[in-house]
Amino acid sequence: MADRYLRFTATAPGRFLTHRLGLPQPAALTRFSPERPVLDGGLLHLTAGRSALALAPVLARTGLGPGGAGRTAAVVLDATGVRDVEALAEVHAALHPVVRSVIPSGRVVVLGAPLDPADHHQAAAQQALEGFTRSLGKEIGRGRTVNLVRLTDAAAAESTLRFLLSPKSAYVSGQVVEVGGATRETAAADGDRPLAGRTALVTGAARGIGEAVAETLARDGARVVVLDVPQAEPDARRVADRLGGTALLLDMTAADAGARIAEALPDGLDVLIHNAGITRDRRLVNMPAERWACVLEVNLTSVLRTTDALLKDGTLKRGGRIVATASIAGIAGNAGQTNYGASKAGVVGLVRSLAPRALDEHGVTVNAVAPGFIETKMTAAVPLFIREAGRRMNSLAQGGLPADVAETTAWLAHPASGAVNGQVVRVCGQSLLGA
Ligand SMILES: NC(=O)c1ccc[n+]([C@@H]2O[C@H](COP(=O)([O-])OP(=O)(O)OC[C@H]3O[C@@H](n4cnc5c(N)ncnc54)[C@H](O)[C@@H]3O)[C@@H](O)[C@H]2O)c1
Repeated sequence: MADRYLRFTATAPGRFLTHRLGLPQPAALTRFSPERPVLDGGLLHLTAGRSALALAPVLARTGLGPGGAGRTAAVVLDATGVRDVEALAEVHAALHPVVRSVIPSGRVVVLGAPLDPADHHQAAAQQALEGFTRSLGKEIGRGRTVNLVRLTDAAAAESTLRFLLSPKSAYVSGQVVEVGGATRETAAADGDRPLAGRTALVTGAARGIGEAVAETLARDGARVVVLDVPQAEPDARRVADRLGGTALLLDMTAADAGARIAEALPDGLDVLIHNAGITRDRRLVNMPAERWACVLEVNLTSVLRTTDALLKDGTLKRGGRIVATASIAGIAGNAGQTNYGASKAGVVGLVRSLAPRALDEHGVTVNAVAPGFIETKMTAAVPLFIREAGRRMNSLAQGGLPADVAETTAWLAHPASGAVNGQVVRVCGQSLLGA
């Protein structure tokens, strides 16, 4: 699982050699730890165009010091007031002089406005920010990330800005996140343990990414239910015991999975994480129907069926959160994965369609994470050269860790993320595969 190349490039001879050979030079990323909860440096708040956002109080709560002369850990460019192409020059003027000074693993967050269907000049200028953000993400280097948030209300976007400006978003770059207006439910929550008093169920949590998600939600105060297949009982119990949660041994493809979850949780559920997933790779010409069917069944049909059941019977409480797991294979496609790519694209469709109705009818948000190359047992088993290509073909030139997916999930599950709905957030280091 260890990325030896990353360690080698961190040494002086490694840096010299890889530079001379023109090889990728991944930077060791700064990630969250309780000892280092915020980036070390100041925040620079810049504006392009005339903005009406009340941003300053929100940025003051990120824990970052004021930017300026000292170390710049993060730059926030408020470009919500950019209404025409001419004003884009202000984006260039604002960032051109400061980008170089952003520390390694630092953050650039561009704020944009929703595209105005009645004003194609505004829409052109605002869409331009997307191409700008993705391009800067690809060139900025040194473990720094660049993301775009479209918003209308700064307070509703606070949990999102805090996440993107923190070490928790180390492997999230080149993303566009839309945050709804202030009318959405955006409960305030206790800083260190925002999920205190809430119950979170994570499917496929006996190992890998699911285990990391359960661990992170428990860190944030949730009572976790570690769901996995009966064959994974020893691991599921070990994880549940370690996190002070409970294990639920259940195959998610069972027709009555929803009813059995409801029965196990008579007090209801606040956070539902659909993480269980399988691959059965084969090119379509060699793929028997069973291989197709089981991947669709685990990754998509069971997600649809149990989500429907738990919303309908009220097990998922108001203010609840659903986070499903897609994949970049469901966005960009991948050879040998027609079944898997179809199932994960289906998850994206489910999220986009259900999100507005689930919020209106049940007060529940529905979002997805789409991991790229994550260092797990699954990816460690990939043949060396394919593995190396997967690891390096992204803007950060390295694989992500299960914790990166877990932190993104925790942001979406946060009680204050009620205005984040219907989003598909890639945790892929800005993979070069797909848009
Ligand atoms: N590892 C990656 O690079 C990567 C990339 C993109 C997407 N993903 C997705 O992330 C999720 C987790 O991936 P991982 O790498 O941790 O996988 P993993 O194989 O290590 O873990 C998956 C877990 O799901 C459980 N599971 C499988 N079928 C189940 C079922 N029917 N009912 C209940 N539990 C079931 C397994 O027992 C296992 O514990 C999956 O949805 C996967 O498709 C992973």
